[in-house]
Amino acid sequence: VLIAIDGPAGAGKSTVARALARELRFCYLDSGAMYRCVGLLSLRAPMRPPGELAREANIELAGSRAGSARGRPGETSAGDRVLLDGRDVTDAIRAGEVSDAASRVAADPEVRRALVARQRELVARGDWVAEGRDIATVVVPDADLKVFLTAGCDERARRRARELGSDAAAVLAEQRRRDQRDRARAHGPLAAAPDAVVIDTTGVDARLIVRRLAELALGASASG
Ligand code: DC
Repeated sequence: VLIAIDGPAGAGKSTVARALARELRFCYLDSGAMYRCVGLLSLRAPMRPPGELAREANIELAGSRAGSARGRPGETSAGDRVLLDGRDVTDAIRAGEVSDAASRVAADPEVRRALVARQRELVARGDWVAEGRDIATVVVPDADLKVFLTAGCDERARRRARELGSDAAAVLAEQRRRDQRDRARAHGPLAAAPDAVVIDTTGVDARLIVRRLAELALGASASG
């Protein structure tokens, strides 16, 4: 069973996707962490083509190993670590400059090709909640359940600012730039799949959304 959760930054995807994976005992895939790893590499090696960096990178996500096709359910706790070429980059990839670099490399078709291939390999076996921008439209168009989470701009910026401990106005400006880039790119742009369940999370408790999605997931796995 595969549940795809897409949407813009700050729509609540990570909170909801992690909690849902834990509740259903599914593996959890944070595809954004992969783009962030390549963004980090591109900051360290600005002269290297990002597509090359993406192909060479050894990205390991806790509970799943990118490149090998196995994920271990139950290892989906909020403390998930991200290893890049053997080093723990969990915190490093959340820095503002890495967010920006990730959004830039994510527009590169070579980067997307490399990472989409790894994501498909990962989710080929087992039950997954996969989160990103193009999971339902590109990575797994035949996902059992497709969800598109949205929220008002101000609320998304507030959530992000709270997470990062920074100023909401600055986050809002940066978020507009990234959203615009994510929606406008030619390859794998941020968009809802035509058959996605669209949920506006503005002012809604994440637990209610998780409950609703767990019900939808049960329905989807029963009918599929
Ligand atoms: O979800 P996030 O903020 O960690 O994602 C970081 C960047 O990666 C963001 O600019 C969008 C991009 N991304 C993408 O293009 N496709 C995905 N499936 C996931 C993330």
